Formats: sequence, structure tokens, C-alpha cells
Amino acid sequence: MSTIVTFGTFDLFHIGHLRVLERAAELGTHLTVGISTDELNEAKKGYAPVYSYEERSRIVAALGIVDEVFAEETLEQKGDYLIQHGADALVMGSDWEGRFDEFRSICEVVYLPRTPGISTSALRRVLSSDIDEL
Ligand code: CTP
Repeated sequence: MSTIVTFGTFDLFHIGHLRVLERAAELGTHLTVGISTDELNEAKKGYAPVYSYEERSRIVAALGIVDEVFAEETLEQKGDYLIQHGADALVMGSDWEGRFDEFRSICEVVYLPRTPGISTSALRRVLSSDIDEL
């Protein structure tokens, strides 16, 4: 078995999220996804996700290509999470290119091209501008 681990918020689940998880799943036999908690998001971005951790993790776990999800509570423990979950490879979208190279001492590190034209931040902007127009 080869275990792939990836991380993300996966708020307002969209096609870019699905595509990165599909490609990550193809790289191994077991896909584990660390999903950032609401508290981590607030600390990191200054606002809460639209969907709660409970909702985001249930959506990701229900995809049929994800074997396991866990809560990413702090950014500082990525290395520990990789070891705990027996990662053979860490897979991230190319927006993180180079930022996780330090973990090459633990496992392989793979960056996959982002799907163009979609992001949770863009969706948040579209939704809030639509609401303002009502
Ligand atoms: N991702 C992707 N293509 C996109 C958007 C995201 O491949 N268009 C990948 C990211 O690179 C990451 C994973 O999906 O590996 C989770 O990303 P996340 O930060 O939760 O989603 P974003 O849409 O990038 O959210 P934000 O706009 O808040 O940064």
C-alpha cells in the first residue's frame, strides 16, 4: 500500500478541489486528507470558512476516492501529521510549489498544477457581491 497525504480547507467544495483529490488518489492506494479546522482558518486567514469543519470533512470523506480524513489543527505539525499517517507522498496544488520541500526527508513531495479559474476566495467574492445586489 502506498499512502498519499494532502491538506486543505476545501470550503465551498469546487471542481479544483475534486480534480486535485482525484489526481492525488491516482498516485497511491490510500488517500488521507488533512482538513484545516475552523480555528486554524480563522487564525490563518482572519475569517471563518462558510462551511464548518464537520461539513467540509463529511463532504470530502463522502467522495469515494478519499479513505481517511483528519483535522489539521496547526500548520506547525505538518511533519508530525505526515509521520503519524504513514505518508509515502505529500501531494499539494502548485500554489504551494516549493513550500513543502523540507518534508522530502519524510516522504516524496509532489505539486500538481492547480485547476485554472476557480478558487474558494473567488467564489466567496462572487457570492458576497451577489448578496449585496439583492
Ligand atoms: N486547488 C487546485 N485548484 C484550484 C483550487 C485549489 O488544485 N483551482 C487545490 C489546492 O492547491 C490545494 C487544495 O485544492 O491543494 C485545497 O485548496 P484550498 O486552499 O482549500 O482551496 P482554494 O480554492 O485554493 O481556497 P482559497 O481561495 O481560500 O485559497
